[in-house]
Amino acid sequence: MSCKCFGLFDSFNKRHNLDQEKQAQEFATDNIRLFSYNSLRSATSDFHPSNRIGGGGFGVVYRGVLRDGTQVAIKRLSTESKQGSREFVTEINMISNIRHPNLVELIGCCAEDNHRILVYEYMENNSLASVLLGSKSKYIALDWPRRVAICLGAASGLAFLHYEAEPHIVHRDIKASNILLDKDFHPKIGDFGLAKLFPDNVTHISTRVAGTVGYLAPEYAVLGQLTKKADVYSFGVVLLEIISGRSSSKAAFGEELMLLVEWTWKLREEERLLEIVDPEMTTYPEDEVLRFIKVALFCTQAAAHQRPNMKQVVDMLSKDVHLNEKILTEPGVYRGHSSKHLGIGSSSSSSSKTKGKPSVDPSSSTNIMSSHSITQMLPR
Ligand SMILES: Nc1ncnc2c1ncn2[C@@H]1O[C@H](COP(=O)(O)OP(=O)(O)OP(=O)(O)O)[C@@H](O)[C@H]1O
Ligand SMILES: [Mg+2]
Repeated sequence: MSCKCFGLFDSFNKRHNLDQEKQAQEFATDNIRLFSYNSLRSATSDFHPSNRIGGGGFGVVYRGVLRDGTQVAIKRLSTESKQGSREFVTEINMISNIRHPNLVELIGCCAEDNHRILVYEYMENNSLASVLLGSKSKYIALDWPRRVAICLGAASGLAFLHYEAEPHIVHRDIKASNILLDKDFHPKIGDFGLAKLFPDNVTHISTRVAGTVGYLAPEYAVLGQLTKKADVYSFGVVLLEIISGRSSSKAAFGEELMLLVEWTWKLREEERLLEIVDPEMTTYPEDEVLRFIKVALFCTQAAAHQRPNMKQVVDMLSKDVHLNEKILTEPGVYRGHSSKHLGIGSSSSSSSKTKGKPSVDPSSSTNIMSSHSITQMLPR
């Protein structure tokens, strides 16, 4: 009797599996695995809070273990996206086509019912943000050679996205929490291509802008001008964070509560640039560190066209090239709408000593800072 029951159950299961297979075949993909919602539920013990790694503007990330024992990072997108599952899978399939040693690998996704979930390779050391800028408990000392490798790896990954990936990708959200670190602290850029999945989710955009202020190129934040140079700007900010071990997300430097970029510019004017170096780093080659700081300053110039492209950045970081500082102009900053210094502009808005050219200076328009206008101006 019990055998018969099992038999029935078995054939039900087979049919059920066949249905699932059929559903999967509808989105036949070359590159990615399609996961059933149930398999991801069991990989994360039903998305148990103890498996939560963190959360950002796109959703919550969980650590999961697949049935074959592989560890993965499972990102459950918090989107009410109107995008159908087919479009979602097509988009993901395109992103997953893009492979590079410095890009986090997208293993697969789930688009069952309303669920939109991404499955990534698991990065043991979490992100640059948690290792270098996070709470003391997660802090891991990184010596200069390790920091150099992280800077170079991240630059190579971004150069690849800009020039070799098909289609070319502007990341739009380069920041320390999107530079992930594997067990050997080898850096990989995460979340590339994700912005494309959120074509019209306005709430999401404004949340994200609020959280990412310290990294936003001014012309992108305010005028919505999105080019590769916006990523170059954000990359420059990350460089400064790696060198200084300090987060750019708060305006907290010097008496004037400057942003990291502004503070660096001020120190340069006062010929005290090495003061930004992370005090945790006791030994480092001064010349090389100075070159890296200057590369960061070239990347964060107010005028987008003055910034180098990412291929040039890779060269500037990896070769002992001479940087022509005579053509270096002051950085642009976007201060968001939470600061008392509303507006954006060249760093001279808070450093009266600076005298560089305020090339892109939308700070002259004073009415651009309401969260409403930011939301409308940011294209995703
Ligand atoms: N593949 C991964 N392996 C390990 N940890 C990851 C992985 N992907 C993301 N994380 C971690 O999960 C946390 C949340 O990531 P998430 O991308 O959701 O937010 P974020 O990077 O802070 O913001 P954003 O939404 O702008 O990317 C981060 O601390 C990140 O380091
Ligand atoms: Mg992220």
